[in-house]
This record gives sequence, structure tokens and C-alpha cells, in this order.
Amino acid sequence: MIVVFGGNGQLGQELTRAAASRVITLQALTHAEADITDSAAVAVALARWKPDLVVNAAAYTKVDLAESNVADARRINETGPAVLACVCASAGIPMVHVSTDYVFDGTKESAYCERDPVCPINAYGRTKAAGEDAVRRILKRHVIVRTAWVYSEFGQNFLKTILRLAATGDELRIVADQYGSPTSAREIAEAILHIAPLLLRDQGLAGTYHFTADGVTTWHGFASRVVAIAAPITGLNPLVIPIQTARYPTAAKRPANSCLDCRLFVQTFGFSLRYWSEGVDATTRVLAASSQRATSHVA
Ligand SMILES: NC(=O)c1ccc[n+]([C@@H]2O[C@H](COP(=O)([O-])OP(=O)(O)OC[C@H]3O[C@@H](n4cnc5c(N)ncnc54)[C@H](OP(=O)(O)O)[C@@H]3O)[C@@H](O)[C@H]2O)c1
Repeated sequence: MIVVFGGNGQLGQELTRAAASRVITLQALTHAEADITDSAAVAVALARWKPDLVVNAAAYTKVDLAESNVADARRINETGPAVLACVCASAGIPMVHVSTDYVFDGTKESAYCERDPVCPINAYGRTKAAGEDAVRRILKRHVIVRTAWVYSEFGQNFLKTILRLAATGDELRIVADQYGSPTSAREIAEAILHIAPLLLRDQGLAGTYHFTADGVTTWHGFASRVVAIAAPITGLNPLVIPIQTARYPTAAKRPANSCLDCRLFVQTFGFSLRYWSEGVDATTRVLAASSQRATSHVA
């Protein structure tokens, strides 16, 4: 039995879907059902479900808002994982905790590996780095999976924003000097369920790993792909114009290089990465088709 905290998020919902197709027993708890900052609530949940493994998919993920809501971001991204780690440690349960490329400053010329020192440049990244530290300090049997540029059919994400903006028919101006690997929450869920039995068998696998899709693009490359795949379905084909980060000011600074070197994950767990556009194409087709059905229904 696996218990997931943050069950209503992109990753939480994909974990539920992936478990159903693999016949794995998994209980995903929403924020309302279990608040990760409330140790009593976490203890009650673990006593009730008696999991072999906990997955923390809960987080404060509003990167720009975190700049002004540091206390909330810290509570959810630092205190929450610390609470989960404490309760898991007392109950003897291992935990997979999910983290981010935003723990790095993005100045490295090549992909970041697990041993590169963290150096976050925004509040979200600082709280996520502190959450990682807490998990490492408190719970020996942990795996931290850092990922990046997450999208899915569920929740809010860049891919959905592009489809929404494309529907307005206007030109899209998208940042073309930040590099990363768009990663499907579905793939992350598959990867976590793949490693779960291995972690339970071998405590020596504890540690920090990078996991994203294969290949690299920019936000502009990502958006262009979404528009190209959606166009034949929606009939909308706006121009996607590349711009520099300086032309799109945001509250939080973003790393210019978000690429994560995932070789350790692939070699350790024998899980192969899919090229980033495969997942983007599949998710775009599903979302574009469902928006077309909704539009034709209204018409
Ligand atoms: N999204 C990305 O691009 C990205 C990139 C790199 C890494 N990551 C990491 O990947 C993981 C999953 O991200 P995601 O995109 O699936 O996030 P998400 O869609 O924003 O979901 C986060 C979930 O956490 C829940 N939550 C918030 N506070 C909570 C609390 N105190 N107790 C319990 N649940 C709480 C939220 O519920 P409510 O909405 O009801 O509060 C939400 O369902 C996170 O660790 C994130 O940092 C994400």
C-alpha cells in the first residue's frame, strides 16, 4: 500500500491513474483529507492506511506568489516535508519526496547532476531546498526525486496556458532563453511506481535523484510544439514569437538552465526516459480534443 499526500495535484492525480492501470494499492489523500503540516493528521492517516511507502506530492507551487507569501511557501515546502519525515521515521515507513530544478541557480553550462551544490534564486526554490534538507536530516529511508517543467491534463500548467492563449487568436510571445525538459506528471508517476518496490527491497537506494523527460528545449520550443500539435484539432494556429527573459518580467527570477542530468536515475532503476515531445504531443491531443468537444457542444 502506498499513501500519497497532495492527491489532488497534477502528480497526485497521475499517481492515482497510474496505480489503477498497474493494480497497485494506492490511497491518494487530498489537502482537505490530510494537511502535511499537521503532524496529528499525518499520524492518523498513516495509522489508518498502514502504508509500506509514502509519497509526498504536496507542495506550494505558485512560484511568483511565493515571493510575497514566503511564510505559506515555507510552511508547505519546508515544515510539511519535515512533519512527514518525522512521522514516517517514527512509524518506520520510507518516503519518496518530490523536489525541483529550481533549487539550482541555472548558471551551469551543462545539465545539473545530483551532487551539484544547490543555490536557489527565488523563494520557492529556497523553501524546496530547505524541504529537501529536512527530509535528508530526519528520515534515513528517503528518496528525493527532483523534476522540472511539469504538465498534465490536470491542474494548472504551462501547456494548458498555451492552449488557452492560443484560443484568443493573438500572437504568443514566449521566453526563448530558458532551457529545460518539459516533463509529464504521468511519466513522473510511472517512474515513482516503478521504483517503489525496488526501494522497499533495497534500503541502499535511498538518496537524491533527478528525473525529467529526455532532451532539451525552451519555453518557446515547448509552446511552439503545443500550438503545432493542437492546430489541426482546434483550427487555431497563432504565431509563437521568441522573446528574451528581460522582456517578460516576473516576480520570481527563473534559472536560465533547468536541465537535470538523469543518468543516475536511469542507471540505478533501469527506467528509460521518453523524449520530451512525446508526452507533450499526447497531452496536447487529449486537451485540444476535449476543448473542441466542449466548443462544439456549446455551438
Ligand atoms: N509544477 C511544476 O512545474 C513543478 C516543477 C518541478 C517540480 N515540481 C514539484 O513536483 C511536485 C508535484 O507538483 P504538482 O505540479 O503536482 O503540484 P500541484 O499540482 O500544485 O499540486 C500540489 C498539491 O499539494 C496540495 N497541498 C498544498 N498544501 C498542502 C498541505 N499543507 N497539505 C496537503 N496537501 C497540500 C495542493 O492542494 P490544494 O490546491 O488543495 O492546496 C495540491 O493538490 C511538487 O513537489 C513540486 O514542487 C513541480
